[in-house]
Amino acid sequence: MNERLCIEPADATLGATVTGVRLAELSEREWRSIEAAFHERAVLIFPGQHLSDDDQAAFGRRFGELSIEGQPFTNQNPDGSVRPPDDPTVQLLRGNEGWHTDSSFQPISAKASILSARKLPSRGGETGWADMRAAYEALEPAMRERIANLRAYHSLFHSQAKVGQGSESMVNGLAQMQADGRAGTGMSPGDTPRYEAEVEQAPPLRPLVKAHPVTGRPALYIGRHAYGIPGMSEEASERLLQELVDFACRPPRVLEHRWSVGDVAIWDNRRVLHRARPWDSSEPREMFHVRVAGDPATETGL
Ligand code: OGA
Ligand code: MN
Repeated sequence: MNERLCIEPADATLGATVTGVRLAELSEREWRSIEAAFHERAVLIFPGQHLSDDDQAAFGRRFGELSIEGQPFTNQNPDGSVRPPDDPTVQLLRGNEGWHTDSSFQPISAKASILSARKLPSRGGETGWADMRAAYEALEPAMRERIANLRAYHSLFHSQAKVGQGSESMVNGLAQMQADGRAGTGMSPGDTPRYEAEVEQAPPLRPLVKAHPVTGRPALYIGRHAYGIPGMSEEASERLLQELVDFACRPPRVLEHRWSVGDVAIWDNRRVLHRARPWDSSEPREMFHVRVAGDPATETGL
């Protein structure tokens, strides 16, 4: 007999640690419990799974179609040397240290992301999440009213520019990440970076408050890619978006995971923001990322 599935909620409005299960060999019953916990807790941590690329993708496919089948997020070159701080990929990874939700700058934003730890620095490099449903519920009624009908544009060019990366370096970084892709990534070296054309031509416009397609509960939909609320000055828009992030990403609505190699985490991009925590950039860190596409019926931008 296997160990019994155990889902232990974190001491926050989101998150749970799941043990007593092997993600590579889920029974239907275990899968149903995990899916229910995903909708309830939004972030699930599975310690010590050591999934292969294919197993991680297969776990992702239980949630839906993948938009990223498998992508290493690493500051290491293929020869093992650590990329310098001005390397375009490193600058993209540094961007991940700001609170964000995945693919909000793409025509269809992400449903879920699954991250596993492959190589870790001696300290730092944790991942943090913040609960945008609990944040919305904690807002003053006046603020809820103020933002009820507001929208913002979402752009990776915009968010990377804010951390000092120009568009040319960003496009090079995306191409380099694509070249890092191994078997199962669905990408090959030399392909045109998929983000580029889509992002530059028409950044999607998305509501600041969005009902979750499964639970129906409203959540803030914000983060570092959001900017330029129509009808507001650039400064006023920036101030409001920053104020919302600052308010939202505080206890009891935040969770941080200190990784061990082999751990897996999945999160609901429709309900949480996430960020990487800094680490000494001379040390390697490699995470493996699988992304589940949003339902076009509910996650398409305007
Ligand atoms: C991601 C991401 C944060 C981290 O995988 O989308 O933002 O801690 N990762 O690496
Ligand atoms: Mn991310």
